[in-house]
Amino acid sequence: MSRSWDLVPFVLGSLRKPLSTGAFVPSTRRCGQALLGGEALDGLGAVVELGAGTGAITRQLDAALTPTARLLAVEVNDGFAARLRRTSSPRVEVVAGSAVDLSRILDDLDVERVDAVVSALPWTVMPPPDQRAVLAAVAKALHPQGWFATLLSVHRARTEAGREFLALLTDTFGDVRPRGTVWANMPPVTAYHCHPR
Ligand SMILES: C[S@@+](CC[C@H](N)C(=O)[O-])C[C@H]1O[C@@H](n2cnc3c(N)ncnc32)[C@H](O)[C@@H]1O
Repeated sequence: MSRSWDLVPFVLGSLRKPLSTGAFVPSTRRCGQALLGGEALDGLGAVVELGAGTGAITRQLDAALTPTARLLAVEVNDGFAARLRRTSSPRVEVVAGSAVDLSRILDDLDVERVDAVVSALPWTVMPPPDQRAVLAAVAKALHPQGWFATLLSVHRARTEAGREFLALLTDTFGDVRPRGTVWANMPPVTAYHCHPR
C-alpha cells in the first residue's frame, strides 16, 4: 500500500487537477511490482520515471536499483514535485516539468542514454500529439537493450482512445506485451512492457 502520509496530499492534488492526475489515490505496491517485474534491474545506469506523483513508484524504484544508478523523476504538478523533492532520498533527481519535454530535460541533466523508463502517465487524457512526442523521446533516449514499462487503466484500454494509444505504443516500440493486471488498484491497471525493435 502507499504510505498513508502520501494519501492526503495526493487526493487533494488530484481534486485540484483531476484530468492531468488521472487517479484519485497513489498506485499500490503491486503496480510497481507489475512495472518492474521480469526486468533485470541490476547494473542499470540511468532510469527515468514519468508522472512520479508523490512517489509511490519512485520509492520502489529507489529501493530496487543499485546505488550507482541515476533515478530521474519527472512530474508536471509543481506541488507533487516539491513534495517528492522533500521526501525522496538524495539520489532521486526530481524534475518539475512535462514528459513532453523529456529530450530537453535529459540534455539539461547531461543524460545521453537511459536504460529504462517507467510511466504512470494518464495517457488517454493527453492529446495524441503529446503522446507521440513523449513516446518518440522515450524511444530516442532508450539504450538499444533498454525497456519501457507503462501502466494503462483497464477501462481506458477498452476505449477508442486506449486502443489508439496501444497501437501507437506498438508502432513506436514493436515489442509490446501486457505483463500483469492489478485489479486491487484504483483504477485497475495493466502494465505494458515495451522493448525497442
Ligand atoms: C496516475 S498519477 C501516478 C502518480 C504516481 N506515479 C503513482 O503511481 O502513484 C499520474 C501522474 O502523472 C502526472 N502527469 C500528468 N501529465 C504529465 C506530464 N505531461 N508530464 C509529467 N507528469 C505528468 C500527474 O500529475 C500525476 O502525478
